[in-house]
Parts: sequence; structure tokens; C-alpha cells
Amino acid sequence: MWRSLALISVFALPSLQSAVPKKFARLKFAKDGTFQIAILEDLHFGENAWDLWGPEQDVNSVTVINRVLNAESPDLVVLNGDLITGENAFLQNSTVYVDEIVAPLVERGLTWASTYGNHDSQYNLSREAILEREHRWPNSRTQKMVSGREAGVTNYYLPVYGSNDGDYAGAPEMLLWFFDSRGGYYFQELDSSGNQVAQPNWVDTHVVDWFKKTNAEIVKKYRKDIPSLVFVHIPTNASLAAQTEIDINEHREPGINDDYTLAQQGEGWCSDGAYDGSCTYGGQDVPFMKALVETPGILGVFSGHDHGDTWCYKWSGLIPGMDVKGNGLNLCFGQHSGYGGYGSWIRGSRQILVSESKLKEKLLDTWIRLESNETVGAVSLNTTYGEDIYPATLDLLSSCPTCNYTLDS
Ligand SMILES: *[C@@H]1O[C@H](CO)[C@@H](O)[C@H](O)[C@H]1NC(C)=O
Ligand SMILES: *[C@@H]1O[C@H](CO)[C@@H](O)[C@H](O)[C@H]1NC(C)=O
Ligand SMILES: *[C@@H]1O[C@H](CO)[C@@H](O)[C@H](O)[C@H]1NC(C)=O
Ligand SMILES: *[C@@H]1O[C@H](CO)[C@@H](O)[C@H](O)[C@H]1NC(C)=O
Ligand SMILES: *[C@@H]1O[C@H](CO)[C@@H](O)[C@H](O)[C@H]1NC(C)=O
Ligand SMILES: *[C@@H]1O[C@H](CO)[C@@H](O)[C@H](O)[C@H]1NC(C)=O
Repeated sequence: MWRSLALISVFALPSLQSAVPKKFARLKFAKDGTFQIAILEDLHFGENAWDLWGPEQDVNSVTVINRVLNAESPDLVVLNGDLITGENAFLQNSTVYVDEIVAPLVERGLTWASTYGNHDSQYNLSREAILEREHRWPNSRTQKMVSGREAGVTNYYLPVYGSNDGDYAGAPEMLLWFFDSRGGYYFQELDSSGNQVAQPNWVDTHVVDWFKKTNAEIVKKYRKDIPSLVFVHIPTNASLAAQTEIDINEHREPGINDDYTLAQQGEGWCSDGAYDGSCTYGGQDVPFMKALVETPGILGVFSGHDHGDTWCYKWSGLIPGMDVKGNGLNLCFGQHSGYGGYGSWIRGSRQILVSESKLKEKLLDTWIRLESNETVGAVSLNTTYGEDIYPATLDLLSSCPTCNYTLDS
């Protein structure tokens, strides 16, 4: 008896160890036909590691994550950039904060997928190292599908299969695309004057080419456009143009609109690639914007970065001043989830609920779960989004005894 058990384990163990746990093998819609995503963005762990304030904010951020995940049951968590405030990082332990961020997810058996933000690349912190740290957990689905210094790291896609899809052969019901809008500074690099080297803050054109080619192959293989969601930390200029040229209406596009004017890809760069404080915007995100509107499957683009903006805008037609014309895709911000990073707006997490039946009509439902456990900004991103009237979202602040701002302002 003992002997045969021992034999079984000797032969069984290697294959068990190499197998990916089944629940992490692939993403699929639940039996009730839904798939829910919780976005945690701008967590900004690792502020001021040298004093008490920073670690206190991380404790508060873990509380936000726990509260959101106690109230919602996502099938996937998206960490949408600025996981860590790399400016404050020490070389020897700059990625340990990943462990703190994912602990509440690992405890619940959840899986996640990340994009990295401008604060995730700094002199003492590299995106590559964050990816390596993430990969200590089988729960991480974050990948790097495009190589090269200019590409950044988190450019990849994840297929989501249907609830009734029993094998791997069928077409995915939905694709989740993740893009790296880079930014920040290159890891351990100084120029000849001893200054840190800025990394461009837009989705690189090679990545745009990779996306177009890869999506075309998928369309060809399955002979249809697959409904898709896009995640990228820094929004494009289309979001800025919507804000300045159209106006975000508190009832039609409910959400906080305090970061006015918002910061977008290409911000601070000149069109010739100079980064010397002489330009406000270089237009380098135009190829990415074009690719987005020329890809019929894309229903929504979800960004962070601007902590004080939490609305969704349906980009239809030509916004004055722009050359790229919207095709009705939704441009959404999430909610600042971390206590690190600027701003005292109430923390929370945007939820996206996709259902197989509504997906056929290209509809998504979304709302924001606040740390107070209330929900705000619940809207249906349907064909009349932008015309429908919703309650305005109150501009609430977090109540945080260990924070440095006035609570009643
Ligand atoms: C990282 O190292 C710094 C400097 O030694 C230290 O102050 C800080 O507490 C460390 N952070 C963590 C999370 O261990
Ligand atoms: C914010 O908190 C830190 C840490 O407690 C403290 O050193 C700093 O003086 C505070 N700043 C303000 C403006 O109160
Ligand atoms: C938070 O809200 C959810 C759903 O709206 C509810 O089920 C849950 O009991 C609430 N949690 C707390 C702590 O109030
Ligand atoms: C990088 O980390 C080292 C080692 O902890 C530290 O001495 C240095 O001040 C950090 N540099 C920057 C620019 O943060
Ligand atoms: C960027 O947005 C501004 C509006 O804020 C607009 O005037 C400009 O033409 C846009 N540029 C591009 C390249 O999209
Ligand atoms: C879109 O959703 C809103 C809110 O549920 C609803 O009032 C509106 O009628 C819907 N539009 C269409 C075309 O179904």
C-alpha cells in the first residue's frame, strides 16, 4: 500500500507540478452568461518608503481592494497602471509592493491582468522587474507579446471563451487587449549630463502595427470581428478633445470631471521627439487612435492616469480640431483605487459587466464601486449612451485620518 502510493506520487508529481491550475487555464463567461471585470488603477504603492506616511497609504489601499472585492465578484481583475510609485523606490526592493497588491486577489483565488503606467518605470524600478515579480503567482495573466526597447512591456491580448464553449477550438466570445503607454524614466539610465532618461508616453507605432496584424489574423481565422475591450493606462487625445471641445455632461456622462484639462498620451513631448518642457503635446498617439476606430470589434477603451476623471464618453464622429473620427466606441476612465498618488477623490473601482446576450448587440454595463461600498455612475454603454440621462455623480472625497488633506473641502 505505502509502496504503491509512493510510486504513484513519484510518477504523478511532475505532471501535476507543471500543469497550470485548471481554474487559471483560460478565461470564460460564467454559466449565467456573464463576465465581470474589476479595474484597480493608480494604486501607487510604495510612496515615501522612508517614513510612516507611505506604508500607511498602502494599508489604506489594501482596505480599498478588500472592500471592493467583498462587494463584487469579478471574473478578472485588471490592474490598469501605476501599481507602484517608482520615483520613491529603492533599487533593492522596488517590486516587493507587487506582493502586497496581489495578496487580497490571491487569497480569493482571483486572476488578474496588468497594464503598466508611467510611475512603473523609474530610475530604480523597471516594468520588466514588475512582470517578473507578478509571475511568481500563477494568477497573473500579464504578458509581453511585443519585444524591443520602444515597445514597453504590457502589450498582449487575452481571449475570453463562451459559457458553453467546451473546447479550445471555437472562436473566443471576446478579446481583452492590453497596451503599454509607457512614460516615466528608463531603469538605471543617465544621459551624458547625468540626468535620468525619459521614456516616451504613448503606445509605440510598432505595437500599433503588431495589434493591427494580430487582430487581422484573428478576424481571418474566425471570419468575424470579435467584440473587444481595450485597457491602457494613459488615455488618448480623443479624451482630452471630448473634454475641451464637446464638454462632459454630468447627467449624460456621469462621473467626476475635476482633472481639467486631462493629461493624455504624448503630453509634454514635441512632435519631433524632444522632451524639454517646450511642448504640451506631440500628437504621437494618432496611429493608435486610428487603429482603435478602424477596429470594429472594439467597444470600449478603459484608462486611468487622470485620478480626477471618472466618466465614460461615447466617441462618435469628428470632434472639432481632430482628424481621427470616432466610430461610437466608449472612452472610459476608472476610479483612483490607491491612497498613494495625487488627489483625495473617494477611492473605488470601475466594474464592467459583459453578458453574452448583450455582447451580441455590442452593449456593456458599467458602474463604480466606491470604498464606502456605495455604487455610482451605473450606466449602460448602449447605442444611446451620451443621450440618456443619469443621476450626476457626487464629487466625494475619501475620509482618511492618515492623509494630508482637509476632509471637508
Ligand atoms: C525598502 O527598503 C527601504 C530602504 O532600506 C526601507 O526603508 C523600506 O521599508 C523597504 N520597503 C519594504 C516594503 O520592505
Ligand atoms: C503629511 O504626512 C507626513 C507623514 O506623516 C508628514 O511628514 C507631513 O508633514 C505631512 N504633510 C502635511 C502637509 O501635513
Ligand atoms: C456592500 O454592498 C453589497 C452589494 O451592494 C452588499 O451585498 C454588501 O452586504 C455590502 N457590504 C457592506 C459591508 O455593507
Ligand atoms: C535608488 O536606490 C538606491 C539604493 O536604495 C538609493 O540609494 C538611491 O537614492 C535611489 N535613487 C533614486 C533616484 O531613487
Ligand atoms: C488633440 O485635442 C485637441 C483638443 O483638446 C485638438 O484641438 C487637437 O486637434 C487634437 N489633436 C490631435 C492630433 O488629435
Ligand atoms: C440604453 O440604456 C438606458 C439605461 O438603461 C436606457 O434608458 C435606454 O433606453 C437604452 N437605449 C436603448 C437603445 O436601448
